[in-house]
Formats: sequence, structure tokens, C-alpha cells
Amino acid sequence: TVELNPALQPLDWLLGTWESDEPGTGGFPTIKPFRYVESLHFSHVGQPVINFMFNAFHAETKKPLHRECGFIRMQPGTNRVAFIIAQNSGLVEIEEGELKEQQLSLQTHALARISFAKEPHVQQITRVFQLLPDGRLEQTVSMATDGQPLTQHLHITYHRSS
Ligand code: HEM
Repeated sequence: TVELNPALQPLDWLLGTWESDEPGTGGFPTIKPFRYVESLHFSHVGQPVINFMFNAFHAETKKPLHRECGFIRMQPGTNRVAFIIAQNSGLVEIEEGELKEQQLSLQTHALARISFAKEPHVQQITRVFQLLPDGRLEQTVSMATDGQPLTQHLHITYHRSS
């Protein structure tokens, strides 16, 4: 196994595979509330970069739904974090934010989408990853679309599976 690049030491608690324990809850003013399960995988190859894959499924049918993958970088000597993200919906995004202890708060810094992306278009995303005192991980995602101000879309907790 390759040693973690020192630039990413502050994020070492993210590394590994996480599975939702309770199904996550999704909603938005314009959609029917839903439940989903999700696995997160964070890995590295010794570069000052974490690689990630998030795969979400319908809680009951297990049908694949939302998927994201990308890279995480930290500005050396600071608590600034950047996520470089591709989503299966046709969205690509850069989110930036700050790491405070074991809470990572991010917001959209740049966003682009395929020309035939489904409407309504997302205009802004914020998300918080928090390592809970009992060792579980929590993710909360809010978004603003063409028609709606920033509102929560997702909330989920995960346990480490490897
Ligand atoms: C709906 C964006 C992650 C499940 C939507 C809508 C948008 C959106 C724009 C349509 C809202 C409307 O019609 O007003 C995003 C973004 C995500 C994300 C930007 C990540 C940052 C997820 C995840 C799931 C999910 C992880 C888990 C399964 C759904 C479902 C709907 C929905 C079930 C309603 C039905 C549909 O439109 O397909 N999402 N979403 N989303 N999202 Fe997400």
C-alpha cells in the first residue's frame, strides 16, 4: 500500500468505503420525498489527490440512480478543499470550501452541464460532510435550481465498511 500524501493528512478520516446505514432521505419542494441507499469510496495512489466514487440506488428496488465521481485536492498549508466532480446527470462541478476539524463544508465554485441536460437546471449546490462522534459519516446536500432557492435535497449517514 502506498503512503498517503502528507498534503491530504487532514482528510485521512474520509478514506475507505462507506455504506448508508439507514436509507437516506431526499426531497425538494417540487418532487415527491424519496429514500435511497448509497455507497461512497475514497482512495488514493500517493498523489496529493483523493479519488472518489459515490453510487446511489433506490432504497427498495436497488435500481441505480445518481452517480458521481471525481477528485479532491487541498491547498497545502491551508484548510481549503476542492472537489472536482462529474455527475451522471450531465453536470460537472467544482466545489470549494473549508475543513474545520472533521467537518467539510463545500459550495459550488463552477458548474457546467451538457447541452441537453434535464430541466430544471441546478444553479448552486452546498454540501457538508461530518464525521460523527460515533464514527459514522453524515452528508447533507442542498441545491438551488432555476425555480427554487437553496433548499435541502439530501440527508444520509454512512458506516465504514472497509
Ligand atoms: C431530483 C439534482 C443527488 C435522487 C433532482 C432534481 C435535481 C436534482 C435538479 C429535479 C428537481 C426538480 O424537479 O425541481 C441533484 C444534484 C445532486 C443530486 C445536483 C447531487 C449533488 C441525488 C442523489 C439521489 C437523487 C444522490 C439519490 C438517489 C433524486 C430523485 C429525484 C431527484 C429520486 C426526483 C425524481 C427525478 O427527478 O428523477 N435532483 N440530485 N439525487 N433527485 Fe437529485
